[in-house]
Amino acid sequence: MAKKILLDCDPGLDDALALLLAHGDPNLELVGVTTVGGNVGLARTTANALALREYLGFDSVPVAAGAGEPLLGATRDASHVHGESGLGNITLPEPTLPSSDRHAVDFIIETLRATPGAVHLVATGPLTNIALALKQEPAIARWAASFTIMGGSFTRGNATPAAEFNIYADPEAARVVFDADWQVVMVGLDLTLQAQANGPVIERLATLGRLADELILPLATYWVDTTNADWDGQAVHDVCAVAYVARPDLFASRPALVRIETRGEFTSGETVVDFDAPYPNAIVPVELDVNGFWAYVEHVYRLVATGHV
Ligand code: BDR
Ligand code: CA
Repeated sequence: MAKKILLDCDPGLDDALALLLAHGDPNLELVGVTTVGGNVGLARTTANALALREYLGFDSVPVAAGAGEPLLGATRDASHVHGESGLGNITLPEPTLPSSDRHAVDFIIETLRATPGAVHLVATGPLTNIALALKQEPAIARWAASFTIMGGSFTRGNATPAAEFNIYADPEAARVVFDADWQVVMVGLDLTLQAQANGPVIERLATLGRLADELILPLATYWVDTTNADWDGQAVHDVCAVAYVARPDLFASRPALVRIETRGEFTSGETVVDFDAPYPNAIVPVELDVNGFWAYVEHVYRLVATGHV
Protein backbone atom coordinates (compact mmCIF):
# COMPACT_ATOMS: atom_id res chain seq x y z
CA MET A 1 0.00 0.00 0.00
CA ALA A 2 1.22 3.49 -0.83
CA LYS A 3 2.56 5.54 2.07
CA LYS A 4 0.54 8.68 2.70
CA ILE A 5 2.70 11.80 2.76
CA LEU A 6 1.97 15.37 3.81
CA LEU A 7 4.58 17.82 2.55
CA ASP A 8 5.19 21.12 4.33
CA CYS A 9 7.40 23.20 2.03
CA ASP A 10 8.59 26.58 0.75
CA PRO A 11 8.97 26.14 -3.04
CA GLY A 12 11.82 26.71 -3.76
CA LEU A 13 13.76 24.99 -6.58
CA ASP A 14 14.43 21.78 -4.69
CA ASP A 15 11.06 21.84 -2.92
CA ALA A 16 9.45 21.76 -6.38
CA LEU A 17 11.59 18.76 -7.33
CA ALA A 18 10.59 17.11 -4.03
CA LEU A 19 6.93 17.76 -4.79
CA LEU A 20 7.40 16.16 -8.19
CA LEU A 21 8.82 13.05 -6.52
CA ALA A 22 6.04 12.87 -3.90
CA HIS A 23 3.42 13.23 -6.63
CA GLY A 24 5.05 10.83 -9.06
CA ASP A 25 6.04 7.88 -6.88
CA PRO A 26 3.20 5.31 -7.02
CA ASN A 27 4.38 4.05 -3.63
CA LEU A 28 3.58 7.44 -2.11
CA GLU A 29 0.18 9.09 -1.85
CA LEU A 30 0.41 12.85 -1.52
CA VAL A 31 -2.46 13.81 0.81
CA GLY A 32 -1.68 17.50 1.24
CA VAL A 33 0.77 20.29 0.68
CA THR A 34 1.23 23.04 3.25
CA THR A 35 3.30 26.13 2.63
CA VAL A 36 5.50 28.27 4.81
CA GLY A 37 7.48 31.44 4.18
CA GLY A 38 11.12 30.57 3.65
CA ASN A 39 13.07 30.68 0.42
CA VAL A 40 10.72 33.48 -0.61
CA GLY A 41 7.68 35.00 1.09
CA LEU A 42 4.56 32.99 1.89
CA ALA A 43 2.48 34.51 -0.93
CA ARG A 44 5.07 33.28 -3.45
CA THR A 45 5.68 29.86 -1.92
CA THR A 46 1.91 29.31 -1.90
CA ALA A 47 1.46 30.58 -5.47
CA ASN A 48 4.31 28.31 -6.55
CA ALA A 49 2.75 25.26 -4.87
CA LEU A 50 -0.60 26.06 -6.52
CA ALA A 51 1.02 26.51 -9.94
CA LEU A 52 2.95 23.25 -9.60
CA ARG A 53 -0.21 21.40 -8.53
CA GLU A 54 -2.07 22.46 -11.64
CA TYR A 55 0.88 21.96 -13.97
CA LEU A 56 1.38 18.43 -12.65
CA GLY A 57 -2.35 17.76 -12.38
CA PHE A 58 -2.83 16.74 -8.76
CA ASP A 59 -5.75 19.16 -8.45
CA SER A 60 -7.60 17.23 -5.77
CA VAL A 61 -4.71 17.46 -3.28
CA PRO A 62 -5.30 20.42 -0.92
CA VAL A 63 -2.70 23.18 -0.73
CA ALA A 64 -2.97 25.10 2.55
CA ALA A 65 -1.00 28.25 3.36
CA GLY A 66 0.62 28.63 6.76
CA ALA A 67 3.00 30.94 8.57
CA GLY A 68 4.67 33.82 6.79
CA GLU A 69 7.05 34.74 9.58
CA PRO A 70 9.22 32.90 12.07
CA LEU A 71 8.10 32.48 15.69
CA LEU A 72 10.61 35.12 16.73
CA GLY A 73 12.97 37.55 15.09
CA ALA A 74 13.56 38.76 11.59
CA THR A 75 12.36 37.04 8.44
CA ARG A 76 15.22 35.66 6.35
CA ASP A 77 14.84 34.44 2.81
CA ALA A 78 16.98 32.69 0.21
CA SER A 79 15.89 34.51 -2.94
CA HIS A 80 19.58 34.93 -3.78
CA VAL A 81 19.58 31.15 -4.33
CA HIS A 82 16.09 30.46 -5.68
CA GLY A 83 15.45 33.70 -7.59
CA GLU A 84 12.86 36.40 -6.86
CA SER A 85 9.96 34.08 -7.72
CA GLY A 86 11.41 31.15 -5.78
CA LEU A 87 11.40 28.95 -8.88
CA GLY A 88 14.41 30.37 -10.70
CA ASN A 89 13.58 31.30 -14.27
CA ILE A 90 10.69 28.96 -14.97
CA THR A 91 7.27 30.38 -15.71
CA LEU A 92 4.28 28.17 -15.08
CA PRO A 93 0.72 29.06 -16.09
CA GLU A 94 -1.10 31.11 -13.46
CA PRO A 95 -3.03 28.76 -11.18
CA THR A 96 -6.81 28.94 -11.44
CA LEU A 97 -7.69 26.86 -8.37
CA PRO A 98 -7.52 28.46 -4.92
CA SER A 99 -5.67 27.31 -1.85
CA SER A 100 -7.59 25.59 0.93
CA ASP A 101 -9.61 27.82 3.24
CA ARG A 102 -7.96 26.05 6.17
CA HIS A 103 -4.74 27.33 7.71
CA ALA A 104 -1.80 24.97 7.21
CA VAL A 105 -1.51 24.42 10.96
CA ASP A 106 -5.15 23.30 11.24
CA PHE A 107 -4.77 21.22 8.09
CA ILE A 108 -1.73 19.39 9.51
CA ILE A 109 -3.47 18.72 12.84
CA GLU A 110 -6.74 17.57 11.27
CA THR A 111 -5.05 15.37 8.69
CA LEU A 112 -2.91 13.59 11.27
CA ARG A 113 -5.81 13.31 13.73
CA ALA A 114 -8.05 11.74 11.10
CA THR A 115 -5.78 8.72 10.52
CA PRO A 116 -3.35 8.28 13.42
CA GLY A 117 -0.24 6.36 12.46
CA ALA A 118 -0.93 6.55 8.73
CA VAL A 119 0.48 9.84 7.46
CA HIS A 120 4.19 10.52 7.05
CA LEU A 121 4.93 14.18 7.67
CA VAL A 122 7.81 15.76 5.75
CA ALA A 123 9.04 19.33 6.18
CA THR A 124 11.39 20.91 3.64
CA GLY A 125 11.20 24.53 4.76
CA PRO A 126 11.57 26.45 8.03
CA LEU A 127 9.77 24.57 10.81
CA THR A 128 7.31 27.31 11.80
CA ASN A 129 4.11 25.48 10.78
CA ILE A 130 5.17 22.27 12.47
CA ALA A 131 6.09 24.07 15.71
CA LEU A 132 2.76 25.92 15.74
CA ALA A 133 0.92 22.65 15.13
CA LEU A 134 2.80 20.99 18.01
CA LYS A 135 2.01 23.89 20.34
CA GLN A 136 -1.68 23.69 19.46
CA GLU A 137 -1.88 19.88 19.48
CA PRO A 138 1.14 18.06 20.96
CA ALA A 139 -0.49 14.72 20.07
CA ILE A 140 0.48 15.18 16.40
CA ALA A 141 3.88 13.84 17.48
CA ARG A 142 2.14 10.52 18.21
CA TRP A 143 -0.20 10.63 15.23
CA ALA A 144 2.45 11.12 12.55
CA ALA A 145 3.62 7.79 11.11
CA SER A 146 7.05 9.41 10.84
CA PHE A 147 8.50 12.90 10.69
CA THR A 148 11.32 13.76 8.30
CA ILE A 149 12.91 17.14 7.72
CA MET A 150 15.44 18.54 5.34
CA GLY A 151 17.45 20.74 7.65
CA GLY A 152 20.49 21.05 9.85
CA SER A 153 23.82 19.27 9.61
CA PHE A 154 26.55 17.91 11.84
CA THR A 155 29.54 19.56 10.19
CA ARG A 156 28.72 22.86 8.54
CA GLY A 157 26.10 25.40 7.58
CA ASN A 158 25.07 27.08 4.37
CA ALA A 159 23.15 30.16 5.55
CA THR A 160 26.05 30.83 7.95
CA PRO A 161 29.17 28.78 8.66
CA ALA A 162 27.25 27.16 11.52
CA ALA A 163 23.64 27.01 10.39
CA GLU A 164 21.66 25.42 7.60
CA PHE A 165 18.98 27.69 6.08
CA ASN A 166 15.78 25.93 7.24
CA ILE A 167 16.93 25.91 10.85
CA TYR A 168 18.53 29.37 10.65
CA ALA A 169 15.27 30.86 9.33
CA ASP A 170 13.38 29.82 12.48
CA PRO A 171 15.61 28.38 15.22
CA GLU A 172 12.91 28.67 17.92
CA ALA A 173 10.54 26.58 15.82
CA ALA A 174 13.27 24.01 15.23
CA ARG A 175 13.83 23.77 18.96
CA VAL A 176 10.13 23.10 19.60
CA VAL A 177 10.16 20.44 16.90
CA PHE A 178 13.26 18.61 18.16
CA ASP A 179 12.03 18.76 21.76
CA ALA A 180 8.69 17.14 20.88
CA ASP A 181 7.78 13.56 21.66
CA TRP A 182 8.81 11.97 18.39
CA GLN A 183 11.91 10.92 16.58
CA VAL A 184 12.93 13.46 13.96
CA VAL A 185 14.62 12.14 10.85
CA MET A 186 17.10 14.93 10.19
CA VAL A 187 18.17 14.83 6.56
CA GLY A 188 20.85 17.47 6.81
CA LEU A 189 23.41 19.07 4.56
CA ASP A 190 26.04 16.38 5.13
CA LEU A 191 23.66 13.98 3.44
CA THR A 192 22.05 16.22 0.84
CA LEU A 193 25.35 17.53 -0.49
CA GLN A 194 25.94 13.98 -1.71
CA ALA A 195 22.92 14.39 -4.01
CA GLN A 196 24.29 16.80 -6.59
CA ALA A 197 22.73 16.92 -10.02
CA ASN A 198 26.06 16.72 -11.84
CA GLY A 199 26.69 16.50 -15.59
CA PRO A 200 25.89 12.78 -16.06
CA VAL A 201 22.71 13.12 -13.95
CA ILE A 202 21.55 16.12 -15.96
CA GLU A 203 22.25 14.25 -19.20
CA ARG A 204 20.01 11.39 -18.10
CA LEU A 205 17.26 13.69 -16.87
CA ALA A 206 17.44 15.61 -20.15
CA THR A 207 15.98 12.57 -21.90
CA LEU A 208 12.65 13.16 -20.15
CA GLY A 209 11.33 15.50 -22.84
CA ARG A 210 8.98 18.35 -22.09
CA LEU A 211 8.89 17.76 -18.33
CA ALA A 212 12.68 18.01 -18.31
CA ASP A 213 12.78 21.11 -20.52
CA GLU A 214 10.03 22.99 -18.74
CA LEU A 215 10.56 21.94 -15.16
CA ILE A 216 13.27 19.53 -14.08
CA LEU A 217 16.35 20.95 -15.78
CA PRO A 218 15.66 24.63 -15.06
CA LEU A 219 14.95 23.76 -11.40
CA ALA A 220 18.01 21.53 -11.07
CA THR A 221 20.49 23.93 -12.68
CA TYR A 222 19.30 27.49 -11.97
CA TRP A 223 21.50 28.08 -8.96
CA VAL A 224 24.72 26.51 -10.28
CA ASP A 225 24.21 28.37 -13.53
CA THR A 226 23.81 31.73 -11.80
CA THR A 227 26.69 31.40 -9.40
CA ASN A 228 30.40 30.87 -9.67
CA ALA A 229 30.40 28.10 -7.11
CA ASP A 230 32.82 25.35 -7.86
CA TRP A 231 30.22 22.60 -7.51
CA ASP A 232 29.84 19.32 -9.26
CA GLY A 233 26.15 20.10 -9.60
CA GLN A 234 23.29 21.65 -7.67
CA ALA A 235 22.30 19.72 -4.56
CA VAL A 236 18.66 18.63 -4.52
CA HIS A 237 18.36 18.87 -0.73
CA ASP A 238 14.60 18.54 -0.31
CA VAL A 239 14.28 15.63 -2.72
CA CYS A 240 16.35 13.58 -0.25
CA ALA A 241 13.76 14.05 2.52
CA VAL A 242 10.91 12.71 0.37
CA ALA A 243 13.16 9.93 -0.94
CA TYR A 244 13.89 8.90 2.65
CA VAL A 245 10.21 8.17 3.26
CA ALA A 246 9.87 6.09 0.10
CA ARG A 247 13.30 4.45 0.03
CA PRO A 248 15.00 4.45 3.47
CA ASP A 249 17.12 1.57 2.16
CA LEU A 250 19.12 4.13 0.14
CA PHE A 251 20.36 5.80 3.34
CA ALA A 252 22.75 4.73 6.10
CA SER A 253 21.62 6.45 9.31
CA ARG A 254 22.72 6.93 12.90
CA PRO A 255 20.73 7.80 16.03
CA ALA A 256 21.71 11.08 17.68
CA LEU A 257 20.64 13.66 20.19
CA VAL A 258 20.10 16.91 18.29
CA ARG A 259 19.79 20.22 20.09
CA ILE A 260 19.20 23.60 18.50
CA GLU A 261 21.31 26.66 19.21
CA THR A 262 18.98 29.66 19.37
CA ARG A 263 21.09 32.31 21.04
CA GLY A 264 24.65 32.12 19.79
CA GLU A 265 25.98 35.34 18.33
CA PHE A 266 27.62 33.41 15.49
CA THR A 267 25.90 30.05 15.83
CA SER A 268 22.15 30.73 15.97
CA GLY A 269 20.39 27.96 14.05
CA GLU A 270 23.17 25.43 14.49
CA THR A 271 22.11 21.81 15.04
CA VAL A 272 24.35 20.41 17.76
CA VAL A 273 24.48 16.68 17.03
CA ASP A 274 25.65 14.17 19.65
CA PHE A 275 26.03 10.69 18.19
CA ASP A 276 27.09 9.27 21.57
CA ALA A 277 24.18 10.44 23.68
CA PRO A 278 22.29 7.65 25.49
CA TYR A 279 18.87 9.18 24.71
CA PRO A 280 18.71 10.09 21.02
CA ASN A 281 15.81 12.18 19.74
CA ALA A 282 16.67 11.89 16.07
CA ILE A 283 17.78 9.64 13.27
CA VAL A 284 20.46 11.26 11.15
CA PRO A 285 21.05 9.84 7.67
CA VAL A 286 24.78 10.12 7.04
CA GLU A 287 25.43 8.30 3.80
CA LEU A 288 23.49 8.11 0.58
CA ASP A 289 23.59 5.39 -2.05
CA VAL A 290 24.10 8.07 -4.69
CA ASN A 291 23.65 5.86 -7.76
CA GLY A 292 20.60 4.17 -6.27
CA PHE A 293 19.13 7.55 -5.36
CA TRP A 294 19.43 8.99 -8.87
CA ALA A 295 18.15 5.78 -10.44
CA TYR A 296 15.08 5.99 -8.20
CA VAL A 297 14.49 9.70 -8.84
CA GLU A 298 14.92 9.30 -12.59
CA HIS A 299 12.55 6.32 -12.62
CA VAL A 300 9.80 8.29 -10.83
CA TYR A 301 10.29 11.40 -12.96
CA ARG A 302 10.06 9.19 -16.05
CA LEU A 303 6.69 7.85 -14.88
CA VAL A 304 5.43 11.43 -14.75
CA ALA A 305 7.10 12.44 -18.02
CA THR A 306 5.55 9.52 -19.88
CA GLY A 307 2.06 10.08 -18.48
CA HIS A 308 2.04 6.98 -16.27
CA VAL A 309 1.08 9.05 -13.26
C1 BDR B 1 17.34 24.15 2.26
O1 BDR B 1 17.20 25.56 2.22
C2 BDR B 1 16.40 25.94 1.14
O2 BDR B 1 16.97 27.02 0.49
C3 BDR B 1 16.22 24.72 0.27
O3 BDR B 1 14.96 24.72 -0.35
C4 BDR B 1 16.39 23.59 1.22
O4 BDR B 1 15.15 23.28 1.86
C5 BDR B 1 18.80 23.81 2.02
O5 BDR B 1 19.58 24.36 3.02
CA1 CA C 1 13.03 24.07 1.00
